Amino acid sequence: MAENSSNGDGAGSMGSMGSMGSMESMGSIMVDTKAVFKQIYGDLKKELLHDPAFDFTPESRQWIDTMLDYNVPGGKLNRGLSVVDSYKVLKGGRELTSDELFQSCALGWCIEWLQAYFLVLDDIMDNSHTRRGQPCWFRNPKVGLIATNDGIILRNHIPRILKRHFKDKPYYVDLLDLFNEVEFQTASGQLLDLITTHEGEKDLSKYTLPVYRRIVQYKTAYYSFYLPVACALLMSGRNLDNFVDVKNILVEMGTYFQVQDDFLDCFGDPEFIGKIGTDIEDFKCSWLVVQALERANDAQNTLLSENYGKTDPVCVAKVKALYKDLNLEGVFTDYESESYEKLIGSIEAQPSKEVQEVLKSFLHKIYKRQK
Ligand code: IPE
Ligand code: MN
Ligand code: MN
Repeated sequence: MAENSSNGDGAGSMGSMGSMGSMESMGSIMVDTKAVFKQIYGDLKKELLHDPAFDFTPESRQWIDTMLDYNVPGGKLNRGLSVVDSYKVLKGGRELTSDELFQSCALGWCIEWLQAYFLVLDDIMDNSHTRRGQPCWFRNPKVGLIATNDGIILRNHIPRILKRHFKDKPYYVDLLDLFNEVEFQTASGQLLDLITTHEGEKDLSKYTLPVYRRIVQYKTAYYSFYLPVACALLMSGRNLDNFVDVKNILVEMGTYFQVQDDFLDCFGDPEFIGKIGTDIEDFKCSWLVVQALERANDAQNTLLSENYGKTDPVCVAKVKALYKDLNLEGVFTDYESESYEKLIGSIEAQPSKEVQEVLKSFLHKIYKRQK
């Protein structure tokens, strides 16, 4: 397996020679999807670094090379790998051909590219320090606000990849449309997140659960949960109009995922999650502050309004202590079990067994996650 996934074949040969196909068909030998997936990153990068539409100088090619390695492959890869896993299930669990494997990985990488684009810009907007265990890209002295243009380039790589590998597919237009729609929803969610945070005076009374849910549905759920499954559905020849229920379940799952993200922002181990939380300092409409506001007495409300949204570590510590007093860790654990049960209920009400399996495997990837 390791030999196969590290052989020197480039993307083109993978897509046309069938070497992966033979590896896939070695029934009893386990195929390491993640290793194959990572190899294909290198193939896609090589293509982008030699894109004939731009006359690269050595310096610009080197910049993109470094920028991609820094920002694209270093995450958990859940979103990208879910395209491949979902596609396999939708194909009835049979081994994928070499082309199918390559294409589902390429689509998965498009989502990872989209994520990289949003995160590079999100870290500037959130004034974050670290991401995936290293300084945020813009924190590097040689980068700074060049990172904004790098974000734009990351975004532009997606249609480059799609054009090269999907142009002749019957679902090409739907794929482009899907990425555009989801990007619009995500950017709109980021807008809501940002203006809710900074709008007028610091006023905690507007931080309610419906406000919270609307932000996270748009900023996180569509691109993180709906998009991978929608890519797999399109690749398998299905029409997305017939999967509105599936979309709703995935949006619900994405909401649950962002609640976890908010919880980990405060209670996670920065070493382990790879980023230092800034939600309290940033006055974010986090799930935790919404829960705290629902439970606080007058004195606790005062403490919150006096300390939430301040960079002073003493203020941050007071907010965290209040969260502990209100037992938000317990509230979160209960929320996790409840969401899980509810999601399993809606998944099992789905008519298609394949769709059920896709949704369940996605849910099991994130249930009780620590990072
Ligand atoms: C950002 O949400 C979502 C997008 C990047 C679109 P957060 O701001 O909570 O993400 P982290 O915590 O910085 O990763
Ligand atoms: Mn952020
Ligand atoms: Mn966060």
